[in-house]
Amino acid sequence: MKVKVSDGIKAKTLVVFMAEGQDSMPAGFPEGLTKKVKKLKELEGFKGKEGQVAKLQVLEDGADLVYLVGLGKEDKLSEDTYRRAAAVAVKRLKKDKVQTADILLPEGDKESLTQAITEGLILGDYSFDKYKTSKEEEEKIRIKGLNVVGGSQKALEKGEVLANSQIYARSLVNEPGNVINPITLAQEAQRLAQELGLECRVYDEKEIQEMGMQALWSVGKGSATPPRFIHLTYKPEGKAKDKIVFVGKGLTFDSGGLNIKTGNFMRTMKMDKSGACAVLGIMKAIAALKPDVEVHGIIGAAENMPSGSAYRPDDIIKAKNGKTIEVDNTDAEGRITLADALSYASELKPSKIIDMATLTGACMVALGEYTAGLFTNDEEFARELKDVAKRTGERVWELPMDDERLRKHIKNTFADVLNTGGRYGGAITAAMFLQEFVDEGIKWIHLDIAGPAWSKEEYAYYSKGGTGFGVRTCVEYVMELDK
Ligand code: BES
Ligand code: MG
Ligand code: ZN
Repeated sequence: MKVKVSDGIKAKTLVVFMAEGQDSMPAGFPEGLTKKVKKLKELEGFKGKEGQVAKLQVLEDGADLVYLVGLGKEDKLSEDTYRRAAAVAVKRLKKDKVQTADILLPEGDKESLTQAITEGLILGDYSFDKYKTSKEEEEKIRIKGLNVVGGSQKALEKGEVLANSQIYARSLVNEPGNVINPITLAQEAQRLAQELGLECRVYDEKEIQEMGMQALWSVGKGSATPPRFIHLTYKPEGKAKDKIVFVGKGLTFDSGGLNIKTGNFMRTMKMDKSGACAVLGIMKAIAALKPDVEVHGIIGAAENMPSGSAYRPDDIIKAKNGKTIEVDNTDAEGRITLADALSYASELKPSKIIDMATLTGACMVALGEYTAGLFTNDEEFARELKDVAKRTGERVWELPMDDERLRKHIKNTFADVLNTGGRYGGAITAAMFLQEFVDEGIKWIHLDIAGPAWSKEEYAYYSKGGTGFGVRTCVEYVMELDK
């Protein structure tokens, strides 16, 4: 689908956003249609509620169809309101087999609204159907082009990059474990890097062990497909204003290992590589936007499987930074792989690290499935990222790291640290475990994306499956560093 900006209404279908209780039509709406639309609006019972769409047949003055798309309450409007509404519009246009339409840009900040609407349109158009072979799917209507009337070209291009990078992450998350394993994930990273002109270094299982990454190796060694360690680098042409490392949990499948997951808990665990896919999506966007910031992407890719060569409960493992880990439960594997990835990231001596991981079910219990847990060793850094997340609409909520009694739960071990901290505060003890592998002096944020990385149903600009959560917030944050 192609989104463009245009300077006037040309298509036969017009999409207009309207808030609850908004009486007058927005600026730019054809005068001649106003009365007619008002009447039809009443007939359709259109109230402007979020998610509500009214389709009005006009048959005059150029436009044939007018879609009114609800925004919800006027005092609650944000950029994300428009992003969501744009996605609702696209889904409806597809359903009605409309292939081209004009979208009237609402009043307000031209740049940010153009960007948000572009993102909503592109993200809303996505669904994962590459494995469907039925004819019905082939005949599905494809939207040809949408025009944002009165939009900003520059903002549109940025929105395109962000949305397409998020979609790239989604598509990769949606690939099952029989297609994407640690080896094929590393190959994809290399392919992407070549396409974008980024540096990419992949370490195989031999090199992983030689480098002292016993933690990643232990988690991966039970699988028939050995682990891989992936390092992507973007360096700006000019002098870098800052240096940041993104680290993603890359479990291409999490069966739980010897502490095998029961029943339905194993289902959807192909999504346990969501953090890694977000990192690749971020690198894709950064390569296109070219900020004056040095950006690294780090992924420890492994498959957590039970077998005769699998790691076990009671095992004691040494991570890359020299600290020892006692295994309480092989299903708390993500933090073990991240121990090496964060140690490696620290050695790059960045000023900041952000890791993204589908780390704990406990985080979903605490915050619900739509909000990521945010953990940090630097409140200012957290505030900056939270501000960006407000704009991108990606929900994050900070959880505390200062509960020293809770920290003791991961210290009750024969090693330096235990890989679980008991039933209560499971997301927090997991974050405390990770902190052991981040060098002091580096500002660090951990995002537990176990909930929002996957969507059980279609909603606004999400489709069923991988969401690509984290890509837009992290990229926007890097762009802030470039200001
Ligand atoms: N990948 C899971 C966490 C997860 C659960 C992500 C549900 C997405 C949805 C992680 O590796 C895991 O199994 N965590 C355990 C930790 C426990 C054994 C301490 C969990 O959350 O149950
Ligand atoms: Mg697990
Ligand atoms: Zn996992």
